[in-house]
Amino acid sequence: MANKIIKAIHERRSRREFTDKAIAGDDLQEIVRAGIWAPSGLNNQPWRFVIITDAKIREELSATTHYSHIVLGAQALIAVFLDSEVVYDPVKDQQSAGACIQNMLLAAEALSLGGVWLGQILKKKEQVCQILDMSDRYELAAVVALGHPAHYDQKSNRKDLNHFILKTL
Ligand SMILES: Cc1cc2nc3c(=O)[nH]c(=O)nc-3n(C[C@H](O)[C@H](O)[C@H](O)COP(=O)(O)O)c2cc1C
Repeated sequence: MANKIIKAIHERRSRREFTDKAIAGDDLQEIVRAGIWAPSGLNNQPWRFVIITDAKIREELSATTHYSHIVLGAQALIAVFLDSEVVYDPVKDQQSAGACIQNMLLAAEALSLGGVWLGQILKKKEQVCQILDMSDRYELAAVVALGHPAHYDQKSNRKDLNHFILKTL
């Protein structure tokens, strides 16, 4: 695979096991910077972030999801919110958040870090917002768990390309 961006897209995997090594603050900034360069409808940039490295808060958040082991093992969490004061279309704003999160996951890999998109935690989003002391203005879109990968053994698969292409006209 010649193109490095396409290679990065193919090689990104959800990383769920991490070492104890802390993530440099500059790397977290770089990851968020990659996120904000995602496209958004009308360029409204609806994403907002809470960056969490505090061990006590991570522990509190771990109780809000089935994936508590991932939250506990991650060295940093980035909670991604939509700002209700700038959103303009529920579907498009969520799509923008998705693009932002994918950019952050790719940036993490590029920095030799790894991450996973946590969506199941949305079931307890009110509790998450309470722990993070967020006002009603912000709606949780996802939490990204980050760390130095403990290994690179993750496997994933995709159905054959032809499964997805409905028509070529
Ligand atoms: C909207 C969304 C929600 C997800 N929620 C979770 C989650 O709560 N826990 C988890 O371990 N992985 C979660 N994932 C990661 C998927 O399980 C993962 O992307 C999928 O299995 C494909 O694996 P890959 O990312 O390694 O290619 C989520 C991914 C997306 C896009």
